Amino acid sequence: MRPDAPLLDAKDLVRRYDMRRGFLGRAVEVRAVDGVSLRIERGRTLGLVGESGCGKSTTGRLVLGMETPDQGSVSFEGQPLPSPGSAAWRAQRARMQMVYQDPLGALDRRLSIGTQVAEPLEIHRIGDRAARVQDLLRAVGLRPDQAERYPHELSGGQRQRAVLARALATEPALLVCDEPISALDVSIQAQVMNLLVDLQERFGMGILFISHDLRAVRQVSHRVAVMYLGRIVEEGEPDAILQDPAHPYARTLVSAIPHPGRRVDRIILQGDPPNPADRPSGCAFHPRCPVATALCARETPALKRRGDGRLVACHLAHRDEALPRKAA
Ligand SMILES: Nc1ncnc2c1ncn2[C@@H]1O[C@H](COP(=O)(O)OP(=O)(O)OP(=O)(O)O)[C@@H](O)[C@H]1O
Ligand code: SF4
Ligand SMILES: [Mg+2]
Repeated sequence: MRPDAPLLDAKDLVRRYDMRRGFLGRAVEVRAVDGVSLRIERGRTLGLVGESGCGKSTTGRLVLGMETPDQGSVSFEGQPLPSPGSAAWRAQRARMQMVYQDPLGALDRRLSIGTQVAEPLEIHRIGDRAARVQDLLRAVGLRPDQAERYPHELSGGQRQRAVLARALATEPALLVCDEPISALDVSIQAQVMNLLVDLQERFGMGILFISHDLRAVRQVSHRVAVMYLGRIVEEGEPDAILQDPAHPYARTLVSAIPHPGRRVDRIILQGDPPNPADRPSGCAFHPRCPVATALCARETPALKRRGDGRLVACHLAHRDEALPRKAA
């Protein structure tokens, strides 16, 4: 471990899949993740936001080493990830945990909550299990006696707390939370997000928080990366992006959420959600972009830092750092 290195440093990740066109069509290769770089520091949260199919979960699996990138590299605490399945990888995996969207699916219905929270302690031979399970349940706001309960005997929010307790059992340095609140009632979502923030303050882990909900991402993240069709198109401070999104796609996401005390016109995206098998030339967003120019169809914009520190992949956002609001 190199203490001065970022907790997680992923560089230029590419992940290709074969995707079949139509029922009997031939398979074409698509880039689900197409050159994604991200960095997470200890005790900080990076929010990853974008519409369905843009590559968020694939990015999460790549940074955890659950899938191997076709190109690019992942370093954790300054060391490259060991090969999947090796003893070194298993030891490292204990320090990196995933929390999924569906807590019921993530838990085994036949086993009590206590048994499931104790499982990682057994696997990694961490002693004093009974006391540890009680501490973990308390840390996530469950009562120690709820260790005896089975998943179907808990509410959705309590189940997600149990999943978090299990993920925290090995004292991970990194948590990847893939849509951890999407399956919960709105009233419970806020509780689970507050819990994540509290747990991070207590345990100091870095978090990759994946969501399609920009409001949720803002609440828990120190930085936000907006993804479109396999690439990051904007990255910066959550408040800066929500106040004044620079990329036209980020602007559509921001326009879709309520802004108390401020009028923000909703931007309705034209065209269908993109199919990675039909990636357009130039900027992948150009067929739906309200301010696209001829250059956008020809040249792919690089993700570059602007004067205000934000990273943006858009030809116009760099030209004068202020995009036209309407179609040219
Ligand atoms: N194992 C796989 N085989 C083939 N294609 C895949 C595989 N996993 C993902 N894909 C494709 O890669 C693209 C990105 O998928 P991914 O699950 O990462 O998106 P996502 O942003 O997490 O979407 P959602 O918000 O719906 O969860 C999609 O087009 C998906 O169909
Ligand atoms: S590069 Fe062009 S098409 Fe892409 S987001 Fe910017 S203005 Fe729109
Ligand atoms: Mg997903």
